[in-house]
Amino acid sequence: MKKSLLTVAVVLGIASVSKAQTKIPPDIEKLLQKNTCLACHKVDTRLVGPAYVEVMKKKKYKPEQIVELIYKPNPKNWEGYPPMAALSNVPKDEALKIAKWITTLK
Ligand code: HEC
Repeated sequence: MKKSLLTVAVVLGIASVSKAQTKIPPDIEKLLQKNTCLACHKVDTRLVGPAYVEVMKKKKYKPEQIVELIYKPNPKNWEGYPPMAALSNVPKDEALKIAKWITTLK
């Protein structure tokens, strides 16, 4: 009895961990919302812009490169998409936090 309860707990634990990978951590979500990223991007589905997992699959960026692209997008990287507006008013530390999180996505 005890053992089966433990099994259930372990299975539930694994399920919530794998779900957490595509879930946006609350502090990052706040930044994405504040800086309007979520209007055009989702983690794993195409919206106006490419899904963040798609970005990492295709490009394998370093955080610094993503920060650069937030300030100065390069639409040539994404054929078939409208050009992303340059978001020069995103604070640098926030851009870096977002960028670091994007690089953790698979
Ligand atoms: C108005 C819609 C819009 C908003 C707002 C927006 N994006 Fe984008 N984003 C796009 C589109 C469209 C593309 C693909 C075309 C391009 O890169 O210009 C893109 C591309 C990207 C790329 C890939 C860049 C590359 O060249 O490979 C990253 C990373 C990205 N966006 C991150 C962000 C982040 C972070 C924010 C918020 C700070 C944000 N975007 C806000 C529409 C948007």
